[in-house]
Amino acid sequence: MDNTCEAKKEPLENVFVLDHPLIQHKLTLMRDKRTSTKEFRELVAEVSMLMCYEVTRDLPLKDVKVETPLKKTRGKMIDGKKLALVPILRAGLGMVDGMTNLIPMAKIGHIGLYRDPETLNAIEYYCKLPSDVDERDVILLDPMLATGGTVVAAIGFLKERNIKNIKYVCLIAAPEGVRNMHNHYPDIPIFCAGLDEALDENAYILPGLGDAGDRLFGTK
Ligand code: URA
Repeated sequence: MDNTCEAKKEPLENVFVLDHPLIQHKLTLMRDKRTSTKEFRELVAEVSMLMCYEVTRDLPLKDVKVETPLKKTRGKMIDGKKLALVPILRAGLGMVDGMTNLIPMAKIGHIGLYRDPETLNAIEYYCKLPSDVDERDVILLDPMLATGGTVVAAIGFLKERNIKNIKYVCLIAAPEGVRNMHNHYPDIPIFCAGLDEALDENAYILPGLGDAGDRLFGTK
């Protein structure tokens, strides 16, 4: 990744903690257990939009001609980069709207995974990707990088489909998940709003924000 990125580069290779004050403010509101489902959903969308700004910082530009009400001039526009957003079901869905506010031309794929209770292997139960996904840069969305098992499995499935350029965006990462990602896919950048302390015995991130899916959809 380009070091000119405004995001603070942590000593951890390829981990970008987006420390913009608005992102940090909204992350704290999301952590607060008193935040309602409605507010939580809105905050996830807002933070995702702000994160999208940094994640797309390296999009190529082309020079174009433009005519203002006063004069002909030259400007810059995004040079036709094909993007796909791929939320991991279900919590990743909460991040899609914020991102598409800024990159409405992105196609959207979905991946659903569950963990086999006996083998603990991640099993893909749903996968629908844009037909030209192998020509697209993929932004993978899953708000909580806990053990990293799900994200590592999802990236494996994406790579089987010949996708070369993948970025992973989460709200909060745990060191255990970052390590797992580094062991399997050190080349894939991780963008997060917070890098937390550890996992508890149930693989919840501490201090974290609880179960992101339940808080987004009001299922608890
Ligand atoms: N998934 C969540 O939603 N929260 C965590 O803390 C860990 C995994």
